[in-house]
Amino acid sequence: MPCYLPCYTRAMFNSDDPTSANAPAIEIQGLCRNFGEFEAVRELTLSVPQGAFFGFLGPNGAGKSTTLKMLTGLLQPDKGQIQILGEDIWQTPAKVKRWIGVVPENMSLFERLTAPEYLEFVAGMYGLDASTARSRSQELLDLMQLSAKSETLLADFSHGMKKKTALAAALIHSPRILFLDEPFEGVDPVSARTLRELLQSLTARNVTVFLTSHILETVEKFCNYLGIIHKGQLLTQGPLQEVLHRINGSMPLGTASLEDAFIRLIGHEREHSDLSWLS
Ligand SMILES: Nc1ncnc2c1ncn2[C@@H]1O[C@H](COP(=O)(O)OP(=O)(O)O)[C@@H](O)[C@H]1O
Ligand SMILES: [Mg+2]
Repeated sequence: MPCYLPCYTRAMFNSDDPTSANAPAIEIQGLCRNFGEFEAVRELTLSVPQGAFFGFLGPNGAGKSTTLKMLTGLLQPDKGQIQILGEDIWQTPAKVKRWIGVVPENMSLFERLTAPEYLEFVAGMYGLDASTARSRSQELLDLMQLSAKSETLLADFSHGMKKKTALAAALIHSPRILFLDEPFEGVDPVSARTLRELLQSLTARNVTVFLTSHILETVEKFCNYLGIIHKGQLLTQGPLQEVLHRINGSMPLGTASLEDAFIRLIGHEREHSDLSWLS
């Protein structure tokens, strides 16, 4: 596989490098979050090994984005523990945030900047010097096929272009773990292929990718680890093939699709109207 990332990977992580090489990338114990009376995430316990390409799959409203926000220090949990490479993100947030890159649900870019200005600003926030910031920004924009738009304000970018800019910003400090909320939504197929190859080249270098998706094909195509969440509760987790085997039981490995497994696990809950008035 071609090398998509410049040679800076890991360059930043010297004295600040996590000490426990064997710690799971992400370890969650009994995580809960309510909104008023509503339990959005309930007693979630999950472990993701380093270098995994982890797909966090669930229907709309299952609690994926809420979980991702808690894992990345954006939303305070009501209860539970989160260890990132052996460190509690809520105890030592500044330290842990150097190790992670995040593309959250609401990307919140500074839209009065151009993409190079934004990336160089983010790089500066992570303490990169100006020349490194400029060269990494250029390489990432080339990779994302955004270089031709370097004079355009982010406000005038399409949704997919903003998403690629947000991903470039999440990569600029060479993180050890990448958290991506629905990264392929609104991205064209060519860019999606580039992103997929990029993410796979990262996991081959022991970077962990944690992505959320409600799209089965995305997870099946990309991920080697899987967690399925429904109504705030984790239904299953583990290596993709093991999970499929566990759920689909007697069906031989390789023949059971993730769609079969997902439907078995979550099922059809609603009585559907046939919308006869539409005809
Ligand atoms: N800030 C909030 N206030 C109230 N309810 C919320 C808030 N954020 C999320 N929720 C609710 O929590 C549930 C899970 O949301 P979310 O994590 O965004 O789901 P997903 O990302 O899996 O589609 C949904 O029912 C949603 O309406
Ligand atoms: Mg979501």
